Amino acid sequence: MHMGGSRCGRRTSVGILQHIRPYSYYPPPEPFISSKFDASSPPKAPSAVANDVPISASSPISTFGATPSLLSNFLAIPPTSLTMSSLLYLGGSPGVPPSEAQLLHSARFTARELPIRLARRVDQYRSLPFIVGSNPYIAKIAKLYASSFDSLASMGFDNIQTLEDNDKFAAKLEEMVQLHSENVPTLARGFLECKKYMSSSAISTFLNGAIHSRIGIRLIAEQHMALSHAFRIGKTATPYSVGIIDTRVNAYDLIKQDSELVEELCESTLGDSPEIKIEGSREATFVGVASHLSYCVKELLKNSYRATVERHLNHYKRNPHAERTPIPPIFVSIAKSKQYLSIRIRDRGGGIAPKNLPHIFNYTFTTVPNEEEKGDASIDDAEMGPYAMQSMPSMGGSHNDALGALTTGGSGSTIGLGSALGTLAGLGYGLPMSRIYAEHGRGSLDIVSLYGHGCDTFIKVRANPLEMS
Ligand SMILES: Nc1ncnc2c1ncn2[C@@H]1O[C@H](COP(=O)(O)OP(=O)(O)O)[C@@H](O)[C@H]1O
Ligand SMILES: [Mg+2]
Repeated sequence: MHMGGSRCGRRTSVGILQHIRPYSYYPPPEPFISSKFDASSPPKAPSAVANDVPISASSPISTFGATPSLLSNFLAIPPTSLTMSSLLYLGGSPGVPPSEAQLLHSARFTARELPIRLARRVDQYRSLPFIVGSNPYIAKIAKLYASSFDSLASMGFDNIQTLEDNDKFAAKLEEMVQLHSENVPTLARGFLECKKYMSSSAISTFLNGAIHSRIGIRLIAEQHMALSHAFRIGKTATPYSVGIIDTRVNAYDLIKQDSELVEELCESTLGDSPEIKIEGSREATFVGVASHLSYCVKELLKNSYRATVERHLNHYKRNPHAERTPIPPIFVSIAKSKQYLSIRIRDRGGGIAPKNLPHIFNYTFTTVPNEEEKGDASIDDAEMGPYAMQSMPSMGGSHNDALGALTTGGSGSTIGLGSALGTLAGLGYGLPMSRIYAEHGRGSLDIVSLYGHGCDTFIKVRANPLEMS
């Protein structure tokens, strides 16, 4: 496996913490125990509590600030398995805003379910090696989860009885969603700094779990926020939607819209863009959250556009006198079966070098050169296609700037490969995140590379999903 550490310019900001032995685990040893914590009579969580399972030898320090007794109470309650039909049932009929009773019922479900899931998130951070949980970026996110947990857990779901109560609750949710909006890049930056304390596969496993459950938490929160909004304005987002779930997302329209955005981005970044040909059913629809599929489609299209244009340009760079031909188009096919809606994206961007293939689903793996590599003529033009340029080890250390800019809400103009319109490539998030989105809806995402020619990418989503995680 290529590790390429020498080129990574690994940087850490853990400073003095680097000297602490990496093998201590949360919770820290006893002397940290809080005087506030009284294990003999843990305060009861609101009426949602089924069992008391105290977290012994625990403290607010080892729980990132969450109240230990509340945390142990909520950890004893299993999360509700989410089904699309139960979310639809909670929200009422497509195209009709919820009634007051439906809205309050949804509010109580949301207020009960979120702290149960947030408790599990906090617990996941507690299981990290001590040195990793102490990293400022990772600790920041863990503390954010802990304070969101405490705030919702101590509220009590059955206290939401009136529309006024719901307004306050919905405003709280909005604030939380906002607070958590930079979690993923912040976490990835933290893990970049911790790569010597955890293997890259352990980091990927943690991030996959964290992002998977984050999607579920956000779905529940955003569903209730959308229902509250529809109730307030007396109108749903589309004639077929229930909250953020649309019962008739048209795949053709979604792909068309996303490809226009990616085309503009590619054009402004690389100066040219291929044509796109969408074939297959124009009527195919599915039941789900359009923005989830749209995220995947955009990321896959960005990869295909970039590969196709870079390969084309590199060909003329190497053969200045070659006869000019048009950029090969990208083909997108839509197919619908009884169970699945499938999309295939086919490009002629040169495919993926076999040495890079095992890493493409690792966070931060990218073949966009970093600043140092951009000036290295020896790696340019070495083999055919843009992806022969070089490989970055998984969780490599050259993306602090990119992630830093992302974390601070940078526009993207200096991140990896991008323009004022956004980032075309270079963060190494597109494939791993898209796969989690697809899998969250019980679908799949796969990529097949014909090295030297191009790639086929497949996304499958449930056409009528009954079950989600
Ligand atoms: N269609 C494609 N053709 C060639 N290479 C690809 C394609 N899709 C993905 N890749 C390779 O996988 C890497 C990781 O992709 P991704 O996770 O989207 O990150 P990024 O696009 O930011 O580099 C890319 O840098 C590229 O090397
Ligand atoms: Mg990408």
